[in-house]
Amino acid sequence: MPQSPAASSRSLSAQVPEAAAGKPLIAPSLLSADFSDLRREMETVATAPWLHLDVMDGHFVPNISFGMPVIKALRPHSKAFFDAHLMISPVDPHLDALAEAGVDQMTVHVEGNWHLNRTLQRIAALGCKVGVALCPATLPEVLGEVLELVDTILVMTVNPGFGGQTFMPGQLPKIRRLAQMIDENEERTGRRILLGVDGGINLQTAPLVTAAGARLLVAGSSVFGQKDRPATIAALQAAACAGEEGGRSVEDVSARSPSMR
Ligand code: DX5
Ligand code: ZN
Repeated sequence: MPQSPAASSRSLSAQVPEAAAGKPLIAPSLLSADFSDLRREMETVATAPWLHLDVMDGHFVPNISFGMPVIKALRPHSKAFFDAHLMISPVDPHLDALAEAGVDQMTVHVEGNWHLNRTLQRIAALGCKVGVALCPATLPEVLGEVLELVDTILVMTVNPGFGGQTFMPGQLPKIRRLAQMIDENEERTGRRILLGVDGGINLQTAPLVTAAGARLLVAGSSVFGQKDRPATIAALQAAACAGEEGGRSVEDVSARSPSMR
């Protein structure tokens, strides 16, 4: 796993070849797993190359989940890319310990972290990939000044804090706008940023977000709520690919389906 500075200098797509192909990637979120059996639960989703780890502090979000000791204990038992979604504020005092725990990417919220530029630089200096997450109420343009530092952008399609919430179709225009910003940034710099979504992703909503331009789909309850996890991940992947191929017209469906789970 890329925990040393040398390894981290590899691009995100080198670490996760599935991301390089530009094909949709399903990232199971461990938040919806059975916490009494976390290691085995994690092993049931080993067909996915990316694992989403929701760290919550009861302050930035109204819930508390798990932290560094749990991530560190799980790390030796998985080859997946560990992405820690940090719903904590302030986040800066914990970055070193998260790197030490063995995460490959830290995804921090724009909201609640005053000096985003400094935080993102510190994550990179620790040898980790850099993710930024946006709550539903946050405008995409807030990222305009930090794109050069970012590997992954995560659009929250629910208010963060809990699994099993209903997808917000109102976030689709934001996904489209960010996809456009990412294209423009790639034209300027030659560097591709991965665009992800988190919250309420299931077989119905997966094609909507890929049609809007998302390529990383975090899925908690829709994966861990099913017995056959590999089959569920494959089905989500197929639905996501269908949306990608169907293009932007699929998004029209969202206007007719205000509540989709
Ligand atoms: C919510 C978390 C999500 C959560 C998603 O705050 O950030 O990652 O696990 O769960 P589902 O997929 O059930 O909406
Ligand atoms: Zn999350």
